Amino acid sequence: KTIAVVGCPFSGGQPRVGVDKGPIHIVEAGLLTQLKELGWNVQFDGHHQFEEISAANDPPIGKLKNPRFVSKVTKAVAQVVGDHAKKGKLPLTIGGDHSLAMGTISGTLDTYPDACVIWIDAHADINTSDTTDTGNIHGMPVSFLLGLGSKVPEFSWVKSSLRPDRIVYIGLRDVDAGEKRILKENNIKAFSMHEVDKYGIGKVVEMALDHVTPNRDRPIHLSFDVDALDPTVAPSTGTPVRGGLTFREGHYICEAIYETGLLVALDLMEVNPSLEDEASVKQTVAVGCSLVRSALGETLL
Ligand code: ARG
Ligand code: MN
Ligand code: MN
Ligand code: MN
Repeated sequence: KTIAVVGCPFSGGQPRVGVDKGPIHIVEAGLLTQLKELGWNVQFDGHHQFEEISAANDPPIGKLKNPRFVSKVTKAVAQVVGDHAKKGKLPLTIGGDHSLAMGTISGTLDTYPDACVIWIDAHADINTSDTTDTGNIHGMPVSFLLGLGSKVPEFSWVKSSLRPDRIVYIGLRDVDAGEKRILKENNIKAFSMHEVDKYGIGKVVEMALDHVTPNRDRPIHLSFDVDALDPTVAPSTGTPVRGGLTFREGHYICEAIYETGLLVALDLMEVNPSLEDEASVKQTVAVGCSLVRSALGETLL
């Protein structure tokens, strides 16, 4: 089986420079060789080159910042991810900021309409164009995929066919008031850090899988925002929030999803190598690589 690595040096969904360097650092750290050692064929056609749209030509639409740039890039990513998936390859998208998931999950849904999404994050990323405080689109991809909020014509290409019962969150601890309302109104299942503390990660992952794929038969798209991990574990990220997943909890999630045999697409997002000191960057990049290896079959024994 083949992993198709999609390197996405993109930061337009949020304001901090550097997250576009995430995929370059992760590939340079040797991830592709590591995946080959796990027995995968690895296809990597180089990092995507996204043609910048100058800020002057991309004024906000409502509150949305860089809307045309984000739309153009994520649409291209949807195409690439969808093409790989249709050829039976497993797309591994390395970001870049989490707005990219609008593209990756659109590509997955285009190929596997009955797919479910497991979203690992400190944040729910489910603001709509109406509820967002920041206007940063990396805080909104889920609402577009679910078709919530006022329609934004610029994003009409996004696959908005994801059903609210086909997504589940693990790791949440910084959810905006409007997002809490959206989660409740749409009955969206979320395991915050409170539930991780209460039940333990093993039980939480089992309950999460029971929710989105009770018969263990639906294709799974795993979207992993590295800020789900505690900042002591993954410091180099744009919106760190204390009280996060431990190193093992993060890896356990990946291992357990691999074990289902249902994984069809994987995202690793929000590694920002220009934040914090050199040791922190190295640590965050290494953790990113090892999360990916765990999701793709690395075992401890
Ligand atoms: N909720 C905040 C916002 O909407 C933070 C989102 C952080 N998202 C992320 N992908 N790191 O701006
Ligand atoms: Mn996040
Ligand atoms: Mn917040
Ligand atoms: Mn996120």
